[in-house]
Amino acid sequence: MKIVLLLFTAFTLQAYSNNAVKKDPALKDALKGKFLIGVALNTHQSSGRDTAAVRIVKEHFNAIVAENCMKSGELLKEKGRYDFTDADAFVKFGTDNNLTITGHCLIWHSQLPAWFCVDDNGENVSSEELKKRMKEHISTVVGRYKGVVKGWDVVNEAIMEDGSYRKSKFYEILGEEFIPLAFQYAQEADPEAELYYNDYNEWYPEKRKTVIRLIKTLKEMGIRIDGIGLQAHVGMTNPTIDIYRETISDYAKAGVKVLVTEFDMSPLPEPRRMGGANLADREAYRKEIDPFTEGVPQEVMLAWNNRMMDFFHLFLENSDHMLRVTMWGVSDGDSWKNNFPARGRTDYPLLFDRDHQPKDVVTRLITELSDKNP
Ligand code: XIL
Repeated sequence: MKIVLLLFTAFTLQAYSNNAVKKDPALKDALKGKFLIGVALNTHQSSGRDTAAVRIVKEHFNAIVAENCMKSGELLKEKGRYDFTDADAFVKFGTDNNLTITGHCLIWHSQLPAWFCVDDNGENVSSEELKKRMKEHISTVVGRYKGVVKGWDVVNEAIMEDGSYRKSKFYEILGEEFIPLAFQYAQEADPEAELYYNDYNEWYPEKRKTVIRLIKTLKEMGIRIDGIGLQAHVGMTNPTIDIYRETISDYAKAGVKVLVTEFDMSPLPEPRRMGGANLADREAYRKEIDPFTEGVPQEVMLAWNNRMMDFFHLFLENSDHMLRVTMWGVSDGDSWKNNFPARGRTDYPLLFDRDHQPKDVVTRLITELSDKNP
């Protein structure tokens, strides 16, 4: 009896130590040498309060971006007074954990303080005044994190699907020039930082043409642009993998790197024809666009995992051109998609489920890549 017990103890100890040594590979290890794998953090996560999410971030990801706290409207809740509390905590989380940090975003028409482009009477400010305000904002924010934030989404969402410029206040007051100016100010504030133009639906052919024209214009002006950020808030049918392949290739040919910056894939019915992420286009809640409140049917999840694999295969195939793939949130419960384009839906767009468990695509990717590079 004693011998049996001894053998049993020895066996359990051995199994335990094997386990301790042989840790399952993480997503970031599997993707090493291909591209960075990033995730957007909310302030519960970057402050460390959401410990379940923090565990996932530390294990699987090597890059982070702030979901909200670096946007101008968040930094400038009061006119003329910056509050960097959350942004500083976010950056500290990144440096403490050795993560590549992206700044999101400098010039955007949304989550912008209402006063930014107007005077005390609500009239548009002059072009000179807006340039001054943009320069001040960019140099304050970029300057504060100089050498620490690796790259910036300098301008976000300035071009429409039909290839025209969005009629934002920046465009109304400065015309197309506001984009080169923003890039120039960012470059001056941190000459080492990477500079990106970020947008959604950049696979629409007309939009693509204008973005490529913008890249050329910047280059001709001697202003640096390092990458195009594809937000990639996608659904189950749009965009096709083929059109995405063509898009990545077109941007690479224009002489910039490509980043997937806000990846999520909703398995819910798409209520909007255009797709994408225009925050102003909201939908009323209807039960028929929220079918999975009690959980996703297996066949839907299978299709979702397969399509996710297809996207990751496409990114891997293009890894020479890709700097990073960033998920827009840690787990399904955190996702903004639960409230966009309709409020109060139950969505399932991320790599980890509501219980913080990895979805099949994570395990499949890790296994596939580890088999190739044992
Ligand atoms: C979203 C955030 O996820 C939400 O929490 C917030 O309420 C609105 O903005 N395009 C972008 C992101 O560039 O900044 C947006 O993030 C999603 C669409």
